[in-house]
Amino acid sequence: MKREMNTLSADKLNGRVYTPEFIVSNILDLSGYYGQTILRKHVIDNSCGDGAFLVAIVERYCKEFLRNSVPDIQVLSDELSNYIHGIDIDEVECCKCIENLNKTVSKYGISNVNWDILCADTLVVDKYNGKMDFVLGNPPYVRIHNLGNSIDNVKKFLFAKNGMSDLYIVFYEIGLRMLKNNGVLGYITPSSFFNSLAGKYMRAYLVDNNLIDKIVDLKHYQAFTATTYTTIVILKNDRQQTTTDYYRFEEKNNFPYYVDTLNAGDFFIDSCFYFAEKSELYELKKILMFHTTEEHFSVKNGFATLADSFFIGDFDFDEFTIPVIKASTGKRYKCIFPYCNGKLVSYSALTSLSAIKHHFETHKELLLKRSLEKSSAWYGFGRSQGINDVYKCKYSINALIKSIIDLKLIKCDKGVGVYSGLYIITDISENELREMLCNEGFISYISLLGKYKSGGYYTFSSKDLKQYLEYKYSQKNEIKGVHNEQFSIFNRP
Ligand SMILES: C[S@@+](CC[C@H](N)C(=O)[O-])C[C@H]1O[C@@H](n2cnc3c(N)ncnc32)[C@H](O)[C@@H]1O
Repeated sequence: MKREMNTLSADKLNGRVYTPEFIVSNILDLSGYYGQTILRKHVIDNSCGDGAFLVAIVERYCKEFLRNSVPDIQVLSDELSNYIHGIDIDEVECCKCIENLNKTVSKYGISNVNWDILCADTLVVDKYNGKMDFVLGNPPYVRIHNLGNSIDNVKKFLFAKNGMSDLYIVFYEIGLRMLKNNGVLGYITPSSFFNSLAGKYMRAYLVDNNLIDKIVDLKHYQAFTATTYTTIVILKNDRQQTTTDYYRFEEKNNFPYYVDTLNAGDFFIDSCFYFAEKSELYELKKILMFHTTEEHFSVKNGFATLADSFFIGDFDFDEFTIPVIKASTGKRYKCIFPYCNGKLVSYSALTSLSAIKHHFETHKELLLKRSLEKSSAWYGFGRSQGINDVYKCKYSINALIKSIIDLKLIKCDKGVGVYSGLYIITDISENELREMLCNEGFISYISLLGKYKSGGYYTFSSKDLKQYLEYKYSQKNEIKGVHNEQFSIFNRP
């Protein structure tokens, strides 16, 4: 058991997730790593693990080489030593990789390849820079808080400018540095860089340098056992065309299928990436780029007590309690609310009733463990959000949906609190609000935002919801807004 736990943490620290064969084969195909043109072309997997990519690469190389009429095995062996490269930080992985490569070539009667598998930290290797025709692989996914000593090396990269959340983002920059002028990079990585703050610099760089050749968004499809939403990305240096082919993934036969050819102006909206058919992106862009000075909706997050099990329940006292709606389920509960006119009451006033005092005193340890906002106190909510709006009429709404039937929009009278989700404050009627949200248009908007959650669900933020509501309201009421045209990089002649 102990060994298993050590293995698990080592896997997590090194972002070790092996790539299934069908993904490798799709990436090789999409990158153009096939046919006679691969011969005498340099290819590297800069985080090769036990060789999922390199084994397939070597297999293809041998087959193409042996298509020649008089194949010379010694020449093949020399070419494999010269043109196939790998790096991994883990010595055991490097050994496994060499073993797997030897097994692969033994089928062709080859036993003496001097494999170029380097055991090193790719972050500090520069000897391959500008020399590779292909950079292919599945870089490590390691969250910033698990990076340990590597963090200083990571900070040196341009793609880490916006605050690093994951090592894979830096591996894009490393891969691009390794490419020759006309080289191709093919990776499978998390798709979080489409809209994360950490991916902001990288997105602009990829678009500005016209690098994105193909995108296969795997959306909810789980290519690995870990819950990670991934995408296959094919980048090409010196491209003639300025478009990107967008594919989705066919789960039934594990195959990418072509959806549309997009211009950067179609998918690079408000500095994030969104992938869908051109017509859908056109609609999305209208919503996301809409701005108005006439605001009709306020959308906020419900209470953050940071101790729901203490504050929300079925208490045998009514003083200092209010009804609350759990926005995620639409269910009603009772909530301890130690506030008066939005201000925290004194502890002595709050606990003048012995039942309340007993409740607080017996759970003091739990409450003290929370990481509180500065303005709060140990017996108050963890954050102040939602407190001042208790005495306003509002609508609670869940922020995790798959289809219309999942939507829980509930009218909350004055005096009712909301937690575990969002709430909307507006002067428009309940019917109007329902009309705007309970339709396929809203569900489609949320799915296009691409914030995937398990079970085929999507999540959205208060900002996403407000943007949609203001836009729809303006359309319905023919209010003129401004569509931000900030695509300066595409406005070149
Ligand atoms: C997601 S796995 C992919 C392995 C293999 N490419 C595959 O597709 O099956 C990432 C690999 O990166 C390696 N790795 C993690 N950090 C690294 C670093 N800084 N330099 C080189 N390799 C690293 C891990 O040891 C692991 O084998």
